[in-house]
Order: sequence, then structure tokens, then C-alpha cells
Amino acid sequence: MLPLYFICVTIYLTCVAAGITGTGGPAKSKSFTPKSKSTRHGQCNPFSTNFTAGSVSQHPLNSYTTLQSTGSPFIAISPRNSYDTASGGGLTLYLRKPKGEVETHDGVNNIVSDGATINSTFVLQYGKVTFDVKAPTIAGVVTAAILIADQHDEIDVELVGGDPHRWQSNIYAPKSSDKQPLWGVFGGVHAVGGTIGEFHKYSIEWNESEITWSVDGRVVRSLSASKTMINGTIHFPTHPSRIQLGIWDASSPIGTSEWAKGPIDWKNAPETISAVVRSVVVECP
Ligand SMILES: *[C@@H]1O[C@H](CO)[C@@H](O)[C@H](O)[C@H]1NC(C)=O
Ligand SMILES: *[C@@H]1O[C@H](CO)[C@@H](O)[C@H](O)[C@H]1NC(C)=O
Ligand SMILES: *[C@@H]1O[C@H](CO)[C@@H](O)[C@H](O)[C@H]1NC(C)=O
Ligand SMILES: *[C@@H]1O[C@H](CO)[C@@H](O)[C@H](O)[C@H]1NC(C)=O
Repeated sequence: MLPLYFICVTIYLTCVAAGITGTGGPAKSKSFTPKSKSTRHGQCNPFSTNFTAGSVSQHPLNSYTTLQSTGSPFIAISPRNSYDTASGGGLTLYLRKPKGEVETHDGVNNIVSDGATINSTFVLQYGKVTFDVKAPTIAGVVTAAILIADQHDEIDVELVGGDPHRWQSNIYAPKSSDKQPLWGVFGGVHAVGGTIGEFHKYSIEWNESEITWSVDGRVVRSLSASKTMINGTIHFPTHPSRIQLGIWDASSPIGTSEWAKGPIDWKNAPETISAVVRSVVVECP
């Protein structure tokens, strides 16, 4: 086997994006766009964070500034006031009451709020990711800890505020042959053992043939690639993926609102709703 640094020189951009070039810290990268073409079969770098200050940098929103190297393992693609790492209690993700009068008609809100969205600056392709998360138990609010690829593959952990004793697993792997999007087709619902409003450790263990979801070390679901066959095509996530952490307002459209047991009742909900990600750990095969 070739030494790692040699592989990294030959596919430098992929390695930089994956954070492989650093030792004891994230790579100093000029680019946050991982190359989707990897000449290696899988890529994973062990990683862990408790979200001390500096672990999340801010994407220069609404500006033409070139994204410079930050050295941070995470980047916020929502505004600066949508998250907090300063308090030392992990990463707090905020969803705030929208400005203006929110009206609810026919099961949806007329205004939907923008919550925090945080990407990792590294990618992984196969490995185990554990999120230690506490989510708001407010109907219509969804807290998500997912793996997502540029090709739109997703492997999801979703905490639906209106269903606090359960959590949801899902995958999405669109193919060009699909005649319709397969949202929800591969979803699963599982007992938390408590509620999503307390800290629990949710894990996604992903290899080329199977995904296993667990909570606090207890396996709740395994999905093998062969079980994702639809009309003769496998729909199994295979592309290098970022970690993405977010909180979002699922108050519209109607299908989304019904799924999330929304819409959010802003007359009774707090003006600032928050989820906390206490840690993220990546373990490699
Ligand atoms: C950091 O996170 C890990 C994994 O969840 C946890 O075991 C450890 O206690 C945390 N350390 C601190 C200082 O909070
Ligand atoms: C964040 O992830 C999304 C989903 O993969 C991607 O479309 C977006 O370009 C990413 N942004 C950054 C700055 O990493
Ligand atoms: C699978 O085939 C059926 C019958 O042709 C079609 O109605 C359906 O949309 C197809 N599904 C996808 C995801 O392409
Ligand atoms: C994938 O993970 C499953 C469950 O741990 C294991 O049985 C299987 O051998 C793994 N496959 C590969 C290709 O590593």
C-alpha cells in the first residue's frame, strides 16, 4: 500500500477537503468544495470535537469575498447569529421567530424562519459518525444531523419536535433514471428511550454494503444496499459526504408540515428555539 502522503499528493484537493493533510488539526484549505472524484476507495479520517470556540467559522454570506482558509472543521452557511460555540457547552443551533406577523392557514404558516445550518469542511466516505444532541420538543421544528454529498446522497438522523419519544432515520440517493423523487421512501422511526429533549448519542455507521443507525449504543436499524433497489436501480449513498447540522422550520409546505407535526405555533413557542450538539465523533473502519 502507498503511504498516505503520496496518495494525498496525487489527489491533493480531495485530501485537503477531507482534512487528511493535517496532523492534529483540520487541513488549511483554500477550497471548501470537495472533489467528488476520488481515486481512493473510501476516505475517512478519525475526528472528534466538543465545539470549542473556533471550531465553526462563518461563511461570508451575501458577499463576493473568496472563501479563505479558516482551519476550522465546520463552516456556518447560515448567519453568524444563528449559532453559538462561545459558551463552551457545545454547538447551539438557533431558530428564531420570523419578523412580521405569522399567520397560520390550512396547516401551514405564511412565513418560515431560517435556522442554523453548519457544514463540515471535510468529507468522509464510509465510517461511523456519532452526534450527541439535545433537540427542542416543539411541534414543527426539525433538528437534523446528516451526511450529505454534492451528488445529493443523504444519510439522516432527524429529530422531529412534535414526536419527542421517537427519532427518524432516512437515506436519499437520487438516480438519473428516477421518474419521481424518493423522499420518505426509506424512512424509519425508532424509540429514543427517553425523549429527544435530553442528550442522546445518535450514530450512523456506513460502509459500502450497509448503514446501521443506533441510539446510545443500541442498534435500531440496519439497511443493506440490496434493500434499496427500486425499478432495478440501487439507491444507496456512496459518495463522499459532509456532515451537516441544522435546525429548521418545517411549517410549510403542507406535506412537510404534516410530517413534522407542524406548523410551529409562534404564539406559544419561545421566540428563540435552540438545539445543542455537544459533540461529533468520526470513527473509521
Ligand atoms: C467531549 O465529547 C466526548 C464525546 O461525546 C465526551 O466523551 C467528552 O466527555 C467530552 N469532553 C468534554 C470536555 O466535554
Ligand atoms: C454545504 O453543504 C451543502 C450540501 O452538500 C452544499 O450544497 C454546500 O455547497 C455546502 N457549503 C459549504 C460552504 O460547504
Ligand atoms: C418505477 O416504475 C414505475 C412503473 O413504471 C413508475 O411509476 C415509477 O415512477 C418508477 N419509480 C421511479 C423512482 O422511477
Ligand atoms: C458493513 O457493515 C456490516 C455491519 O457491521 C458488516 O456485516 C459488513 O461486513 C460490512 N461490509 C463491508 C464491505 O465492510
